[in-house]
Amino acid sequence: MSQRKILVTSALPYANGPLHMGHLVEYIQTDIWVRFQKLFGNQCTYVCADDAHGTAISLHAEKQGITPEESVALINKERIHDFSDFLVEFDNYHSTHSEENRKLSEAIYLKLKENGHIASRNITQAFDPDKQMFLADRYIKGECPKCGADDQYGDNCEKCGATYSPTDLKNPKSAISGAVPIEKESEHFFFKLSDFDGFLKEWTRSGTISEEIANKLAEWLDAGLQDWDISRDAPYFGFEIPGQPGKYFYVWLDAPIGYMASFENLCQRRDDLNFDDYWKKDSDCEVHHFIGKDIVNFHCLFWPAMLEGTGYRTPTSVNVHGYLTVNGEKMSKSRGTFITARTYLEHLDPEYLRYYYAAKLSSRIDDLDLNTEDLVQRVNSDLVGKVVNIASRNAGFIKKRFGGKLSANNIAPELASDFQKTGEHIAELYESREFGKAMREIMALADKANAWIDEVKPWVVAKEQGRDQELHDICSAGINLFRLLMIYLKPVLPAMAIKAEAFLNIEPLHWTDSQSLLLDHEIAKFKPLMTRVESDKVEAMIEASKEVLAKMSEQKPAETSACNEWLEKEPVAEQITFDDFAKVDLRIAKIINAELVEGAGKLLRLTLDIGEAEPRNIFAGIKSAYAPEALTGKYTVMVANLAPRKMKFGVSEGMVLAAGPGGEDLWILEPHEGAQPGMRVM
Ligand code: MSP
Ligand code: ZN
Repeated sequence: MSQRKILVTSALPYANGPLHMGHLVEYIQTDIWVRFQKLFGNQCTYVCADDAHGTAISLHAEKQGITPEESVALINKERIHDFSDFLVEFDNYHSTHSEENRKLSEAIYLKLKENGHIASRNITQAFDPDKQMFLADRYIKGECPKCGADDQYGDNCEKCGATYSPTDLKNPKSAISGAVPIEKESEHFFFKLSDFDGFLKEWTRSGTISEEIANKLAEWLDAGLQDWDISRDAPYFGFEIPGQPGKYFYVWLDAPIGYMASFENLCQRRDDLNFDDYWKKDSDCEVHHFIGKDIVNFHCLFWPAMLEGTGYRTPTSVNVHGYLTVNGEKMSKSRGTFITARTYLEHLDPEYLRYYYAAKLSSRIDDLDLNTEDLVQRVNSDLVGKVVNIASRNAGFIKKRFGGKLSANNIAPELASDFQKTGEHIAELYESREFGKAMREIMALADKANAWIDEVKPWVVAKEQGRDQELHDICSAGINLFRLLMIYLKPVLPAMAIKAEAFLNIEPLHWTDSQSLLLDHEIAKFKPLMTRVESDKVEAMIEASKEVLAKMSEQKPAETSACNEWLEKEPVAEQITFDDFAKVDLRIAKIINAELVEGAGKLLRLTLDIGEAEPRNIFAGIKSAYAPEALTGKYTVMVANLAPRKMKFGVSEGMVLAAGPGGEDLWILEPHEGAQPGMRVM
């Protein structure tokens, strides 16, 4: 089998805040895949970088009273430390604010221009006269033009669900300076994505991305691709556009080029790697990107089109994972579930999390939940209870009774060969990113090993005269089974593998070593390979997270792309105290009637029973998610003490809450026995 040459990337994390448990889903997933490729004998190179440009990053620096360069450098140092402590091993970790990236970005832009894929035209945008800068939608606040709700961001109302243009906001203010924005015109540059319509329709169905993602993208492709605005006016932290003083590349133009730039930077110090080998069209090397589901449009539309438009190769695969929730909910600072990488490391072993994520990951984009109780239980039962146990129950006899030497016999040839054969399937599962299935296969083998040991009972054999050879053979077989499991777990548990190699007194294990056994070989003294997770440490971590993170902001820079529906833009919510929250009267409400409201785009009129004499009348902006018939009889949660609000269509006497990303996926409770209209929710 020939050695594959593989370049792997993870998305470049924004340099405006610490790494957290959500990010780690991606970096751990990628690292496991890379380690597997290396262990398997392929030449695999893993590069990443900080995504250093854009408004969010310069604002973050400004808040700390330092320059963006200084802020990025500080964060870069922290990052590298966090990644290395989580055993995420990059071959190179660079920055998009680098000379390599500047050169490549300029060259790619100029080539796109030369090939006729860049257009320019004037657009009118909100402008902050105090700060002398243009304001992206998310940096404008004002009153909703529909319902009058105060403090609404950008282009949609959180209260009534109306969508509008930021210029329609009443009493708009700059979220940065508080100044009243004015409208101003300026020239922008656009990447003509529609030039690549045919190419993208084919590329998205070429097996490079999963069908799940291709189907999602088809919605955009069918709707018609729009030009992508790739320029921003000064002041902007980024690269100036060649020949266009005062105009900068939008952060998302140079960010993916950062993958190439990081690799280029590595090539400068590695004789065995050549940039063009990997990036030229028709290259026989592979390029694999790992990303989260929120940035699919950038990687599966803009990026391949940019590469195609400049004559580079396109990626071999774009692998998309889902979002992390913690204990069933979106990470939250007040609940202590917004856990940074550093806070985790101060309390727990990184390999617990690596194993837990591996056990939960698949090749699909389903979200995954970090359930802290489940983590404790799984790690303790699988790794400590099953895997390490096999080594510890056999090592003592080998040391005490046989001078530390393994037997020359293989007493359980069938079991050993079953373990060896299953390795092939486990390798396929790693290759296809079905890590959860791989972990289940490995644990099923561990169960078999333990069941066999329980059956042959070395502790009984040990007490009987004349059964020394048998005892020696049994314990040696146990150690060998453990060794095979360690090979299969090595991509996930690299530190434990090193300890196991020391215990087994062997060279670093490779995947192919599973084809051999350790016979007639002296091993070292057994030392605990992993300790149990203690629940109180997990609790301490949650407590610490509540304290540490009270003041941090975790946002993404604003996007104004043609296809940004997947981007989860989180408005910067001001914190409220518990007392503020306690004032909100949340009640279970039964929807007794739901109907369309004539002339209201998004609204439904709901009649709700909350156990009071009179039903409540409410207007809710959930028409996009539910047909009225689908709501009648269901339960929801409402804010019962919201001051009545006069709307164009009547008075709204409260507000209903729904969970979900919006659009079509908005969730309301199914009728449920425990819920009673009027019950308080706390
Ligand atoms: N800077 C961009 C990526 C540019 S790539 C050319 C970015 N940065 S990010 O810091 O917001 O996210 C980095 C990666 O972490 C993304 O792939 C994102 O999907 C992932 N995650 C961030 N939060 C996450 C969760 N809560 N759960 C899972 N993955 C998450 O996007
Ligand atoms: Zn509104």
